[in-house]
Amino acid sequence: MLLRVARDDRIRVGVQDPTRPPHSLTRITARIADRLTTGEIRGIDVSPRMISAAQDRHPGLNFEVGDLLTMPYHAAFDVVTSFNVLHWVLDQREVYARIRAALRPGGWALVQFVCGSLRPSLEATAMNVCRQPEWAASFGDFEAPFVHPEADDVTRLVQAVGLEVISATVDDLRWDFRSGSDFERWVGAGFGDWAARVPGREAAFVAEVVSRYSEITGSDRTLLFTQLRLRMRRPEA
Ligand SMILES: C[S@@+](CC[C@H](N)C(=O)[O-])C[C@H]1O[C@@H](n2cnc3c(N)ncnc32)[C@H](O)[C@@H]1O
Repeated sequence: MLLRVARDDRIRVGVQDPTRPPHSLTRITARIADRLTTGEIRGIDVSPRMISAAQDRHPGLNFEVGDLLTMPYHAAFDVVTSFNVLHWVLDQREVYARIRAALRPGGWALVQFVCGSLRPSLEATAMNVCRQPEWAASFGDFEAPFVHPEADDVTRLVQAVGLEVISATVDDLRWDFRSGSDFERWVGAGFGDWAARVPGREAAFVAEVVSRYSEITGSDRTLLFTQLRLRMRRPEA
């Protein structure tokens, strides 16, 4: 998650190529930072590992460990962006309320993340694997650590917390990784919640998820997902 302070609101955040996996948060941040003549950018993520990697790559930018659900900002930023994070935040209402609170009146936000789809997602496939006999004992009462909400539901929620929706688009996207092992590596990096339940068997779990998911996509190196891109504004006071 990034909070971007742009005194110059001519800045446009639309610099990702959605067809190329995986997106790099820090590269995007750095490109936006290059375009800023004044102001400040701050990136936050709840994962110390993610923040440390981002800080190493871009020592000139400000990153800090922080949870979106407890971030304390009030009318502090002109722009808020978030890429591929919000589907990991279970309390959807609170996170949009925090984003609104962080924005100055008139400020805007751009968020994109995985939304609902008729096709089973990679994460839904992982939840199915959890219920298989060889894994069920490890997962017990494990609850899905993600949400893939429908675009209309998100729009309603956002409006309910006092943000105006400027636009909402849904794209059906495909990322082809170079190889099956590249894809498995990428899946493993984002599957910390599942991995914590299967110490010593993390790779086997991920391999099984990827194998079952490949029956849905027809490939062992492809991620298919629907991406909601939502642009919002905090109304002037
Ligand atoms: C798929 S990664 C995306 C990272 C980055 N935004 C990017 O585009 O490369 C999802 C990130 O969401 C972060 N995350 C999940 N829940 C969060 C929360 N409540 N507050 C802040 N970060 C969170 C995770 O730590 C993880 O780094």
